[in-house]
Amino acid sequence: MGSSGDGSLASNDGTGKGEVFHKGVAISMWQNSGDDDSNWTNFIKSNFPFKALPFGFKRFSGKHSVLQTCPDTWNRYEEDVELAAKAGCNAFRLSIEWARIEPRKGEIDMDAVARYHAILDSMEAAGIEPNATLHHFTHPQWFEDLGGFEKAENIQHFVAWSLKAIELFGSRITFWATFNEPTCAMFLGWITGMHPPGKILACITAGKVVMHKLQAHCEAYEAIKRTAIGKSLQVGLVHHHITFLATGPRLLRGLAAYAADWMNYWWGYELIHQWMLTGKFTWKVPLLGQWLEWQHPGGKPPCDWFGVNYYSRSVVTWYMKPWCLPGEVMTDMYYPIYADGLYEALMQSNQYGIPIYITETGIADKSDKNRATMIDKYMRAMLRAIADGADVRGFYYWTLVDNFEWNAGYLMEFGLYAWQPDGSVDRKLKEGAKALVRFFKALPSNLSALRAAAARLVKEGELPDHEQMHAEAEEVLHDLTARGHKGRRRHGHAMVAAT
Ligand code: BGC
Repeated sequence: MGSSGDGSLASNDGTGKGEVFHKGVAISMWQNSGDDDSNWTNFIKSNFPFKALPFGFKRFSGKHSVLQTCPDTWNRYEEDVELAAKAGCNAFRLSIEWARIEPRKGEIDMDAVARYHAILDSMEAAGIEPNATLHHFTHPQWFEDLGGFEKAENIQHFVAWSLKAIELFGSRITFWATFNEPTCAMFLGWITGMHPPGKILACITAGKVVMHKLQAHCEAYEAIKRTAIGKSLQVGLVHHHITFLATGPRLLRGLAAYAADWMNYWWGYELIHQWMLTGKFTWKVPLLGQWLEWQHPGGKPPCDWFGVNYYSRSVVTWYMKPWCLPGEVMTDMYYPIYADGLYEALMQSNQYGIPIYITETGIADKSDKNRATMIDKYMRAMLRAIADGADVRGFYYWTLVDNFEWNAGYLMEFGLYAWQPDGSVDRKLKEGAKALVRFFKALPSNLSALRAAAARLVKEGELPDHEQMHAEAEEVLHDLTARGHKGRRRHGHAMVAAT
């Protein structure tokens, strides 16, 4: 198993695949191209936040949805694979949509299977390595109707889906992720109600959902490894690494810190971090205390590689308003550019002892003024982590073409290539995206050569010094606290109160 070391692609595995540093883009097919039979499609049709909002709140997802128009990589895959290759990619992360392949229970759509094969043909022709995710927030409506991941008895359906996907595409795809961001989907779907099933503060069910997904990861992993082809596949898990920093006026900072602690635990990295290290899952709920516990019988969970999705750290006020610290630049999402956090996420994930891929990073930046800065800073933070010993083997930018950002609709523009739902812009390379193209073209694809390049860049003073980045952040925090506000530290991230 990967966690014990024998699943990772060592340099001498005979395939040479472990020697390649992945320079990639990431997409989820649903966000990019929709599809009729998914729970998310149904959610848009029926639910918050796309229809009337309670208490007179306005929609914040814009006027178009993926149901009416989309960038449509599903049909324009040849162009899009070529655009990725032009940007210097040698890898492409995509979701294999369960709802497209099995729209009704037990019924396989052979046209959809053929389309995925055609997409893989294009990638192969362009020398691009696919990296497939089996569950990127979406699943068939029939699975949702059975109760989805709220019910332990439904885990078997996910395992069967994983085996079907391997049977259909396993000979062509080496890198597989079971789930994309289990904690993020849980938080948005069961705590805030912004993702399906749209439940609010369903704290106990939320815990069951994450636990069942982690159990499903383990069961799917074991089942895949038992297949004839299983041993040659790399099966991983993708996690959203985020930390929350509490701020607020003196009297309310306790409240802010309390909320941030819960966010760090639920949505942030803590829950998964503990599980990855020990196989122990513990679900705690405010006021009720510990509610669920599960220990993977094999100790550390089976996992050949770990996917880190990193965008930023979230700085919140006592009433959870997102903002940033002095000197930081806000993105269009609820967080600033924060490269130091990527370094920390990678060093922390390195403790699992398996290869790490940055499976997503990027910026929502309509103005495109900050994209190049973000790419430059995050790329250097990653190179620094590699030079400091982190086994990072890939950098996937989110995303290729502007697409549908879940509850925020088309308002968030993450793409390397611009696309507008009104048809005014179609796949135009953004100025800021050129920074990524330059990095991808300049950096070696060979892993050992990349590691050597990272070490050389450190010597040449081209990469940030983590200690220095940290000291600068401390200075900002000190300035804030010196104005009469106490700070408090947690897991290396300062929690500070400011006016
Ligand atoms: C998700 C993507 C999403 C991106 C940008 C990640 O949490 O995996 O689906 O679009 O972040 O917010």
